[in-house]
Amino acid sequence: MRKIGVLTSGGDAPGMNAAVRAVTRYAINAGLKVVGFKKGYRGLLACDYEELTERSVSDILHRGGTVLQTARCPEFKEEENVKKAVNIASALSIDGMVVIGGDGSFRGARDLSLNGLPTVGVPATIDNDIGCSDYSIGFDTALNTVKDAIDKIRDTARSHERCSIIEVMGRGAGYIAAYVAMACGAEAAIVPEQEYDFYEDIIKPIEKGRVRGKEHNLFVVAEGVGNSVDIAARIEKETGIATRATILGYIQRGGSPTVNDRIIASRMGAHAVKLLCEGFGNRIVAMKDNQMVDYDIYEGLEMKKTMDPSFLELLEILSM
Ligand code: ADP
Ligand code: F6P
Repeated sequence: MRKIGVLTSGGDAPGMNAAVRAVTRYAINAGLKVVGFKKGYRGLLACDYEELTERSVSDILHRGGTVLQTARCPEFKEEENVKKAVNIASALSIDGMVVIGGDGSFRGARDLSLNGLPTVGVPATIDNDIGCSDYSIGFDTALNTVKDAIDKIRDTARSHERCSIIEVMGRGAGYIAAYVAMACGAEAAIVPEQEYDFYEDIIKPIEKGRVRGKEHNLFVVAEGVGNSVDIAARIEKETGIATRATILGYIQRGGSPTVNDRIIASRMGAHAVKLLCEGFGNRIVAMKDNQMVDYDIYEGLEMKKTMDPSFLELLEILSM
């Protein structure tokens, strides 16, 4: 291994820059050269790259987004484009790649490995939905951003005795919703992993709360569940309580990464380069019990995460 490439792909996540910095500096320390491709697989296919040095990655650790930029590149699903990418890498004398992104990006990484370019994936998505890893870069920062927003919304809900529905991101996963609901003292988190009943899981807690003297209510709804505006309208109709829906949207993706995200991104980026140096490709870096581990990409992509039902039960108990 003499030269490696690195790219960020899929949705940007806070901490991606910390991972790029770690990949670059760990590799340089090991005597490798590093090339950064711009805009994910799109930049790889367009041979759009820059050499990364220890200085060119300075001053990025604390920045949100990704300095390499990112893109969705559907054409990378076509085999001829994967082959083209491997040829481009070979022409640039690149012996290994690090792909920082989510499970879609790892499918691309798997295809690169399959076609002869050893590639390692580093989990980075605010959704925290990578099956083989307890944690993905960006999750903690997104939680803190959402927490700040909900604390503000709570002030208004309390002042007006309203019910607030907050829709958060997560694609098909409810981790942001569940964790932030606990952190912000919500009545419940409505998540795609668990079927919900409108009367049992929303109306009943509101009515119970009313009897207990609650003057405002808060529900966190994962985007994968459906339309939070409709849910709010139904609650208002059913209970007579003024209900407002807030869709937080892209505010959740940006911002300076938290300490946790910076540290985990640094450890994951370094682990990815270590694997390549040891001759391993087709791996996903993962965190298990706060340790850096790795899985075969095929195996890692097959692994499924489950939402611990006791977490949601505790949330319900504490919302009394
Ligand atoms: P994420 O990596 O955050 O899950 P996406 O699902 O959008 O985000 O995937 C990011 C990119 O990874 C896609 O735009 C595409 O370039 C590549 N990709 C996704 N799925 C595949 C696949 N099945 N085969 C090859 N490449 C893929
Ligand atoms: O995967 C991160 C994420 O922000 C999801 O939570 C969301 O569903 C999706 O990306 C939005 O993607 P886009 O930026 O393409 O609209």
